Amino acid sequence: MKTVRILFVCLGNICRSPLAEGILRHVAGDIPVDVDSAGTGGWHIGNPPDRRSIAVALKHGIDIASERCRKVHPGDFDAFDLIFAMDRSNLADLRAMAPLSAGHKLHLFLAYTKGTATDVPDPYYEGPEGFETVYSMLFEGCSSLAGTLRERS
Ligand code: 4NP
Repeated sequence: MKTVRILFVCLGNICRSPLAEGILRHVAGDIPVDVDSAGTGGWHIGNPPDRRSIAVALKHGIDIASERCRKVHPGDFDAFDLIFAMDRSNLADLRAMAPLSAGHKLHLFLAYTKGTATDVPDPYYEGPEGFETVYSMLFEGCSSLAGTLRERS
């Protein structure tokens, strides 16, 4: 099976999308995927994920501490097969940046994976429980996605 190249996108690339990246890599197992994440905003470029995302991932046996924040760039629309926005605002920002030819690659993550037009909420101003909620939503979506990719392989 051809390697599927998947990019997760949120606003800061320190809370939600690095967590999604780590979870998908973990649940994909031997499914051939290339996974990365990026932000539409550039405030944290070069930084590791938020310590609360690192902590919730570790609690579930996933190490995301070596990930580094980067911003979405135009080459991403060519370099990836599937580009998942965490929320509708991220999706609107991506649509505004993407060439028309890449429009079919852009999806709201939980709409594509779970069939529910639900945002993964920004937990940046929340406590640890907000990060647990986000972890659960991402784990469900990534597990579904891994199942779909496995069927295709
Ligand atoms: P994320 O959360 O989009 O899930 O990474 C945020 C992190 C930082 C900021 C906003 C959202 N910020 O404004 O710095």
